Amino acid sequence: MAGYQVINYPRNAQQSWNVKKKVYVKSYGCQMNAYDAERMADVLAPEGFIETQSAEDADLIVLNTCHIREKAAEKVYSELGRLRVMKDERRAAGGDATIVVAGCVAQAEGTEILRRAPAVDLVVGPQNYHNLPSLLAKAKHAPVVDTEFPIEDKFDHLPAPSREKILSRGVSAFLTIQEGCDKFCTFCVVPYTRGAEISRSVAKILGEAERLASAGVREFTLIGQNVNAYHGEGLDGKTWSLGRLMHRLAEVPGIARLRYMTSHPRDMDDELIAAHRDLPALMPYLHLPVQSGSDTILAAMNRKHTSDEYRRIIERTRAARPDIALSSDFIVGFPGETDADFEDTMRLVHEIGFASAYSFKYSPRPGTPAAEMTTQVPEDVKSARLAALQEALDDSRNNFNRAAVGQTFDVLVERKGRVDGQMAGRSPYLQAVQFDDDTVAIGDIVSVEITRTGTNSLFGKRVGEPMTAEKPPSIGANAA
Ligand code: SAH
Ligand code: SF4
Ligand code: F3S
Repeated sequence: MAGYQVINYPRNAQQSWNVKKKVYVKSYGCQMNAYDAERMADVLAPEGFIETQSAEDADLIVLNTCHIREKAAEKVYSELGRLRVMKDERRAAGGDATIVVAGCVAQAEGTEILRRAPAVDLVVGPQNYHNLPSLLAKAKHAPVVDTEFPIEDKFDHLPAPSREKILSRGVSAFLTIQEGCDKFCTFCVVPYTRGAEISRSVAKILGEAERLASAGVREFTLIGQNVNAYHGEGLDGKTWSLGRLMHRLAEVPGIARLRYMTSHPRDMDDELIAAHRDLPALMPYLHLPVQSGSDTILAAMNRKHTSDEYRRIIERTRAARPDIALSSDFIVGFPGETDADFEDTMRLVHEIGFASAYSFKYSPRPGTPAAEMTTQVPEDVKSARLAALQEALDDSRNNFNRAAVGQTFDVLVERKGRVDGQMAGRSPYLQAVQFDDDTVAIGDIVSVEITRTGTNSLFGKRVGEPMTAEKPPSIGANAA
């Protein structure tokens, strides 16, 4: 019989629809995960979910996980242990909680997560979170795992956040332009968890950029696992590089600053280096992971460049933009790394003078070639090398920051400072800067003379008048 199903709504249904459900998204790992966490909140907003900052408060808890090192992945299971207790307690009291594992552990481990953590309702990979509403509906009946790499582009299925939401997230925003990796460094899980490299089209990136900028965003950090391998369809139908894309993005009204990460040395092309010379909006900061200073180790890592090639890229970039601040990632204790290899890394660090850096002990990851190598380095050797490297990198960073004292920088005001009457933002070189002056607005760019350095910030005083946005964002100095 053709017809319709009569549903007997409970009398209080209307009322319960008005009660907003709460979602807590906890993100681990890289900027891409931070960006995805916001997109998950955007997908859930039309379903009636508002964001909360604590699991205790939430009806739906999403752990947006990272698989890059063992520690990061194991953290998820301890968190799931705590959430299981919470869920049991709630059920005993007649309530409930829905638990979702998203991100790269979800992609890598899939059903294994349900086996180890039965309290989990849904496991969803990084390419499927646009389907969260329908997956959650299915998961009401039985646990669901979705780690397929879909044909459709998730970016085409993501709702736009409201203007208020954009503003609440701040004047500096991440914007994914590229995702995935085809490079297969022998230590790394990313090609398996994020899939093949794809670039979004310039038209779609511009659409998102214009929407964010018109709501008050003033700075974009363009993100991708290999962001400088960007090769998206341009406005003229031809393939555009990252350099070309940035020239176009710099024209978006309201946008004052552009940054990008993470880059691979092999993809530092002339157009991108020239953009550092020609494009004032492109900030003088380059995060270019080298991982090791030893050619033997670089080859074993499948990085496909030597340490001298890296040095030459840095020279060319410094020739284009002499004041550029450099940053890198390092791995110590990769299989087969000798004392001499490690000394090569230390030499590179001393030669280049990094403004900041991340360094890690090599962590064997399941399914990667390096994990199978028989020349694993003992834990105590890794620890000693990491300590020595971090000391050198700290010195290098402190030297860079100390050199700022007495200089005047443009600071993009991002928030109120820790102390009353203080405002905080970032220098062009990505240093955190605090200054005494609460008359300026968030989103303004102000000249600040640096007077001293602290542990994590520079301190200074405002000089001259602030440069407000072309169309001043309606985001006051009181916004958090
Ligand atoms: N796409 C970027 C890096 C992504 S992962 C690039 O090509 O450089 C971020 C950093 O984590 C890497 O640069 C590396 O330093 C570190 N990393 C990745 N896998 C690791 C592993 N198995 N053990 C330790 N550190 C690792
Ligand atoms: Fe991982 Fe290498 Fe790809 Fe970076 S380039 S994401 S380190 S495989
Ligand atoms: Fe981690 Fe996945 Fe990013 S493994 S570093 S969250 S791409």
